[in-house]
Amino acid sequence: MKIYVARGAGFCFGVKRAIEIAFKVAGESKRGVYTFGPIIHNPQVVTELRSLGLKPVDGIGELKGKKVKALVVRTHGITLSQMERLNRMGIDIIDATCPYVKKAQHYAKLLSDEGYQVLILGNREHPEVKGLMSFAGKDVRVVKHSARLPKLKKKVGIVVQTTRNVEDLKRLVAAVVAQVSELKVYNTLCGTTTRRLKETEELARKVDVMVIVGGKNSANTTELANLCRSIPVPTYHIETASDLKDGWFAGARSVAISAGASTPEWLIKEVEKKINDIGGRGD
Ligand code: F3S
Repeated sequence: MKIYVARGAGFCFGVKRAIEIAFKVAGESKRGVYTFGPIIHNPQVVTELRSLGLKPVDGIGELKGKKVKALVVRTHGITLSQMERLNRMGIDIIDATCPYVKKAQHYAKLLSDEGYQVLILGNREHPEVKGLMSFAGKDVRVVKHSARLPKLKKKVGIVVQTTRNVEDLKRLVAAVVAQVSELKVYNTLCGTTTRRLKETEELARKVDVMVIVGGKNSANTTELANLCRSIPVPTYHIETASDLKDGWFAGARSVAISAGASTPEWLIKEVEKKINDIGGRGD
């Protein structure tokens, strides 16, 4: 069985940067440092950081009564009101927000300041989108897909969750432009994600089975799996090599592995090794 591994699989620039910051902070101060939610959407990395004393909290309320030295903000960023609340509490904020997410926040604010109704393409439950919404003014709208557009004003500005795909953005722009008199679009997609999606799609079109490695709660990993399923090709979204099942590869002559931006390289290698073993047993 031929095994391909996507070249762009694994940690992206933003995640590498955030992890470096988190490990540095953990190394310097053993106690009292927290992260706002898991530093990245990867349970294995979060466990490792926890063992070094860097604990995730789900909300600012959880910090009350604790001796807090600092709080590391993860790649997705936080909302403006959360930032203000932390400042009021006198907590030292170590900002590991990905610069691409920062850019999207900047454009959401700019559009709002210029009087545009801001439309965000993304998942409103995702922390990155919650953050973007807080920068986009009162009149912000969020859409998951172009199919269900909300009622829009005449002057609309679009930003997009960094990990979505360019095809969805094109569809949204086409749908919105027909309804408004003025439209401004900032393509805030992250280049790394766009390249990874393209490479994964190319692989998915030529193999019998796709394996996508990454946290089940990782938006960009889920986006990769959904893309492969839409090809369609049998696709398995797994978190670790132990999730693999021999039966998935019965009769397969080729398999490709891709992984989200928050998946460590050692996990990808373990998956590759186990698939290799499974392929070997099948010969
Ligand atoms: Fe940033 Fe893109 Fe990674 S937005 S966190 S470089 S997936």
